[in-house]
Amino acid sequence: MSKKRVAVIFGGQSSEHEVSRVSAQSVIENMDKTKYDAVMIGITRDGQWLTYEGPTDKIGSGEWQELALTAHQKKNTQLLPEGDTQSGSTVGEGSGELIETNTARGIFGESSKNKIDVIFPVLHGCNGEDGTIQGLFELAGIPYVGCGVLGSSVGMDKAYTKIIFEKEGLPQGDYLVFNRKQVNFQLDEVIKEIEGRLTYPCFVKPSNAGSSVGVNKASNSEELKTALDIAAKNDRRILVEEFINGREIECAVLGNDNPIASTVGEVVPCNEFYDYEAKYQVGDDSKVMIPAENLPAETVQKIREYAVRAFKCLDCAGLSRVDFFVHKVTGDIYINEINTLPGFTKISMYPKLWAASGIQYSELIDRLIELAYERFEDCKREFTNS
Ligand SMILES: Nc1ncnc2c1ncn2[C@@H]1O[C@H](COP(=O)(O)OP(=O)(O)O)[C@@H](O)[C@H]1O
Ligand SMILES: [Mg+2]
Repeated sequence: MSKKRVAVIFGGQSSEHEVSRVSAQSVIENMDKTKYDAVMIGITRDGQWLTYEGPTDKIGSGEWQELALTAHQKKNTQLLPEGDTQSGSTVGEGSGELIETNTARGIFGESSKNKIDVIFPVLHGCNGEDGTIQGLFELAGIPYVGCGVLGSSVGMDKAYTKIIFEKEGLPQGDYLVFNRKQVNFQLDEVIKEIEGRLTYPCFVKPSNAGSSVGVNKASNSEELKTALDIAAKNDRRILVEEFINGREIECAVLGNDNPIASTVGEVVPCNEFYDYEAKYQVGDDSKVMIPAENLPAETVQKIREYAVRAFKCLDCAGLSRVDFFVHKVTGDIYINEINTLPGFTKISMYPKLWAASGIQYSELIDRLIELAYERFEDCKREFTNS
């Protein structure tokens, strides 16, 4: 059987650009080379798409970008040349790179030489995990790893996810949703509504974001104002949540229509909550425990069941990590959020949860690619009206 050409897309215009590069390096280095050839495609912070053929260890470090730009300048090529996307068949002199035609499929190469068989987007956050790029893959008609447009976009929007979780009957904290205009022009009414419904402290977050960017805990109305202002800068929709005094428990899900749940892990943040700094800057001081210790077996079982239900009710595919709180006093379980493209470095929670559940990193990559094909076949439609 011939090797499959897997496009690994990394970087992207998101606050999680760097994590994505580290995840992608791991994926490329650990994929089964007897089965797959990696085609590396990086997206710079300013949105340029560049194919890259250099050493993989320069991806995590960020040096890939300079190397790719230099190589492309020499050859006068790049993946999506600016302003030249409508010009017809072959784009740019010497375009031995991917783009070949002005069809969506052509972006990823159509000739036998350039053709991409399957895409592995190792992107996190906005523009990568939110259904936008998944829409492009759909248009191109190429199988891809992970959730489709719907699961990705709903999963990215915390406020919308809550509506679906509520419908599914999953336990979650109380919340309110506002839009930016309300925060900017009717702040007093917004505060009044929050104070009428929730008690301090409460959590304020942008509905669409990740890595705790723009997430703040507010303990009084002054802090609430500041927190709302920050969240409104980060997104058009703002979520205000009841504070849950909980342990942070995470569960990995793998599969398509019949997904399985891993064992559960715990994150013990080194800061007051699991903010950006605790996640990435003083990361070593935050502790990760796999499996989570001293959790009743019944709680673990329920979390695993809820994680699968969360995955299914958003029509997810491939992978997701579902995050929970377990109340420190009552032991009650609250679902917090779903991450449809979770961190994927070898030491990230998602792969580690699977390693602890018997699926090692390379096998996980293999399974995800197989699941991409399965979902692709499953999504094919017959149009019966013609
Ligand atoms: N309602 C809440 N109660 C207590 N802590 C919270 C709450 N919401 C968020 N947090 C804290 O903030 C962190 C980041 O919030 P989260 O909703 O997970 O956003 P992100 O998508 O950026 O990870 C959580 O891991 C947790 O530490
Ligand atoms: Mg989170």
